[in-house]
Amino acid sequence: MIIGVPKEIKNNENRVALTPAGVAEFKKSGHDVYVQATAGLGSGITDAEYVHAGATILPTIEDVYEIAEMIVKVKEPIASEYALIKPNQLLFTYFHFASSQELTHAMLESGAICLAYETVEKTDRSLPLLVPMSEVAGRMAVQEGAKYLEKPMGGRGILLGGVAGVKPANVLVLGGGIVGTQSAKMAAGLGANVTIVDISLPRLRYLEDIMPANVDTVISNEYNIRQLVQTTDLIIGGVLIPGAKAPSLITRDMLSLMRPGTVMVDVAIDQGGCFETSHATTHENPTFVVEGIVHYCVANMPGAVPYTSTLALTNATLPYAIQLANKGWKKACRENEELKKGLNVVQGKTVYKGVADAWELPLTPVDDVLGKVIVA
Ligand SMILES: NC(=O)c1ccc[n+]([C@@H]2O[C@H](COP(=O)([O-])OP(=O)(O)OC[C@H]3O[C@@H](n4cnc5c(N)ncnc54)[C@H](O)[C@@H]3O)[C@@H](O)[C@H]2O)c1
Repeated sequence: MIIGVPKEIKNNENRVALTPAGVAEFKKSGHDVYVQATAGLGSGITDAEYVHAGATILPTIEDVYEIAEMIVKVKEPIASEYALIKPNQLLFTYFHFASSQELTHAMLESGAICLAYETVEKTDRSLPLLVPMSEVAGRMAVQEGAKYLEKPMGGRGILLGGVAGVKPANVLVLGGGIVGTQSAKMAAGLGANVTIVDISLPRLRYLEDIMPANVDTVISNEYNIRQLVQTTDLIIGGVLIPGAKAPSLITRDMLSLMRPGTVMVDVAIDQGGCFETSHATTHENPTFVVEGIVHYCVANMPGAVPYTSTLALTNATLPYAIQLANKGWKKACRENEELKKGLNVVQGKTVYKGVADAWELPLTPVDDVLGKVIVA
């Protein structure tokens, strides 16, 4: 198969969908890889490294879309790319269709096969291509929180780990999933006193077993959160209710209970945020202050560490991409339920319920397109 890797053109996106190691894997399986010039530079990968691994460099994005049977990307195509996408071309990337009607219609009209990273799903219902970015964001949340707790950055001026004779900071982690676990581990490693709250007792039991002694667990309810925020220095929001807006666990009136300079990092901002006073920010202007409380609400946190994020993402996507290239999308999806769940839009039909529901589109059973379509 001919694989194309365009350069990401979404604002401030420095990740790339394939590393030289990925190119080498495709080549080993007999595929050809075309990479757009400078596609990897934002992640520290040069064109020469891609060439050394066996890729061919093409000068423009048009060249890449023109030649490729499968496009591997990071972010959803933006408007200027819509016209480049060809009928029956396979696109393997993040789409997040339920948040863009325009994108959904553009992809339906393109006639392409859109396999979305975010809906590839394992039998235990985990989302293997979202996990790496949650790991990055969870770890980063502590780094960012520590930075904004410094006085010149607007924070209380407290060091997470304290020093001999001075107590460490208190960190409250809302949600003990992937983000929360990584945040708790990092904060505990720096010496902070950490409390994780979650609604799932089995999850809290597990965390209680594996976390170090400076991490406590508390069941999530409004009463407990109201108590905890009064002595917390850094709050990290990592809750998720799949398919729904995040619940507002920190309400506006709770801000007055907190100490001025408390920092809140709302990692769940991409699902609407879990603090009532949150609104999405960017890496250029990541924070704002409400009632003396510093809010950090960047919706694409992993974008700030593209080197780590690219490697973490491609480690997870490559095995799936190789299956798609080796077998063709139909056979690969028939033989792998995880990949099949990734199919969202196929040759003008919506085959994923969440997308059909979001935009009131007719839903075609995914097995229909796998059974009938002949293009491989
Ligand atoms: N801002 C970013 O750049 C960025 C990057 C990656 C992930 N995220 C987002 O971070 C959020 C968390 O992702 P994740 O992978 O950790 O999800 P996850 O499903 O692994 O964990 C979510 C946890 O929240 C818990 N939860 C649900 N309702 C709760 C409540 N009322 N109180 C306490 N806990 C509750 C669940 O029990 C679960 O343990 C998601 O919204 C995800 O999209 C954002």
